[in-house]
Amino acid sequence: KPIVLSGCQPSGQLTLGNYMGALKQWVSMQSTHDCLYMLVDLHAITVRQEPKALHEASLDGLALYLACGIDPEKSTLFLQSHVPQHAQLSWVLNCYAQMGELNRMTQFKDKSAKNENNINVGLYSYPVLQAADILLYQANEVPVGEDQKQHLELTRDIATRFNNLYGDIFTLPEPHIPEQGARIMSLQEPEKKMSKSDSNPNNFIGLLEDPKKLIKKIKRAVTDSDEQARIYFNPTEKPGVSNLLSLLSLATQTPVEQLVPAYEDKMYGHLKSDVADAVVALLEPIQTKFAAFRNDQAYLNKVMREGAEKAQAKAEKTVARVYDAVGFIPRP
Ligand code: TYM
Repeated sequence: KPIVLSGCQPSGQLTLGNYMGALKQWVSMQSTHDCLYMLVDLHAITVRQEPKALHEASLDGLALYLACGIDPEKSTLFLQSHVPQHAQLSWVLNCYAQMGELNRMTQFKDKSAKNENNINVGLYSYPVLQAADILLYQANEVPVGEDQKQHLELTRDIATRFNNLYGDIFTLPEPHIPEQGARIMSLQEPEKKMSKSDSNPNNFIGLLEDPKKLIKKIKRAVTDSDEQARIYFNPTEKPGVSNLLSLLSLATQTPVEQLVPAYEDKMYGHLKSDVADAVVALLEPIQTKFAAFRNDQAYLNKVMREGAEKAQAKAEKTVARVYDAVGFIPRP
């Protein structure tokens, strides 16, 4: 089976964007692929986190993975910080990544513009740690949203460079980006992506959000103020309306083309209330399952322990090969 690896940062509550762009794909790949899914807590601290909040967000994230349908019997589910090989390989790869390459990373540029008072070295070498995550497990496919494409290209570049020097050590991974849902936009500013770390909470929908609150957010979403308030799909001309149509399409599993005719002579309000209903119907069962998993600490511990063990056994093999390749002496 092809190997799949992916992860989300526990730097806040996972959003509908994370679900549509990533988790939804993760769940469906479980039966056909050998999947590893993690919470990337090492990545999360590249932006300052309140320690208690990080702790809670990691457990919430784990319970949410389970609630969304990630099955620890089928997939390896773990926390990045539980497998020390991520940090080990990351160091080695830092020595094979060029500053010029990292300077071009748009996520670094965005994040450093937003966090002017904490442009730390970890934020800069973040994509190298991500490359280590992927290459450690010799992943063939990496299911992610559109925004991660550049990091995947860098991963392939670093892997190729390393392989050219030392032989076939790393598998070259392919990004797996869904045709629809790869870029869910912010509700108030539909020209930028929905993000869990957005300073305006009206911009995103958390997977754990209270249905009443999320209905309000959707009803308040920005629609486009062109002369005729028509409903059609065109992300450039109608970013707000098109984002709502995408959400409706994804939540109801109906192609956009099939949805649009029904809104021919309807108003934005109709569309919004349909989107709200569909999102509530999608999230309610997830929230119910979440509550059960989140309250079962013993089970969460078991999942984390077994996941980390399985992941580490694989990761150790890659680190051993890499250490040998660069000339380190095995510990006698
Ligand atoms: P993160 O935590 O920002 O996002 C997790 C996943 O969700 C996707 N995503 C979106 N998809 C559609 N619309 C959106 N608005 C949206 N927002 C986020 C992201 O593309 C991602 O797939 N660097 C990664 C985490 C990471 C990783 C890895 C991923 C670390 N190591 C190894 C894959 C493989 C990140 O910041 O994800």
